[in-house]
Amino acid sequence: MSSVPRASTRRRYLMCPPTYYRVTYSINPWMDPGKPVDLPLALAQWEELRDRYRALGHTVEELAPRPDLPDMVFAANGATVVDGKVLGARFAHPERWAEATAHLEWFRSHGYAQVREPQHINEGEGDFAVTATWLLAGRGFRSSPLSHPEAQEFFGRPVIGLDLVDPRYYHLDTALCVLDDARDEIMYYPGAFSPGSREVLRRLFPDALIATGDDAAALGLNAVSDGRHVLLPQAAVGLFGPLRERGFEPVGMDLGELLKGGGSVKCCTQELRE
Ligand code: ARG
Repeated sequence: MSSVPRASTRRRYLMCPPTYYRVTYSINPWMDPGKPVDLPLALAQWEELRDRYRALGHTVEELAPRPDLPDMVFAANGATVVDGKVLGARFAHPERWAEATAHLEWFRSHGYAQVREPQHINEGEGDFAVTATWLLAGRGFRSSPLSHPEAQEFFGRPVIGLDLVDPRYYHLDTALCVLDDARDEIMYYPGAFSPGSREVLRRLFPDALIATGDDAAALGLNAVSDGRHVLLPQAAVGLFGPLRERGFEPVGMDLGELLKGGGSVKCCTQELRE
């Protein structure tokens, strides 16, 4: 693999501070209500991520947290924004239903003209990933397969449906990360996908960076790339070398408290693509 020179592009992100974050219910295998969350530590880890984005020159908008919505810190799930068009979310679990409205209200009050309230269940960027050519779309645990044609029609981008089969990787963004959205370059963990979906990924992304089970289990694929810097869970040590070989700059983050909710870097970060 030839190491291409990498350039970052300026990004705009939407994040929500974990002010009311806690694990009191379990809707994914990472969540154990018996395991206490260190809230001040969660806040410090989240602030470090936010400040790191800003230090890299990116804009971070903040969504106001709500006391009744402990998972709201996982802002990536609240909508998908491409070309300034907003497809709202519709959550699978009642515990998170109201988050969708909070996101829609934010977009409506921030000048977004094209905001669509979805008909079918989709958990935003949890299951939608934007590459140069495609909208990759996960299904199997949360987002409905019917949300895929809905997103394709709304964004006018070809949707590639991918079947998730391992409950630990319940969202697409726990198993796949877009490294370069100008080049269709991704990294993923094949074990999270059905055999047919693996074959689809092999065909579309023959040069993808393939993650090991250990790096996936550290939620290493729950990463955010600006085209050059790749912010990822620091425990995913096996990804650092391969990313560097490709010309990326891996930036390890410690979001250990957020991991108790089943999320990391990407889950906390919704990208606002203008
Ligand atoms: N506790 C949240 C849930 O299970 C975590 C969401 C993580 N977000 C993500 N983009 N994968 O819904």
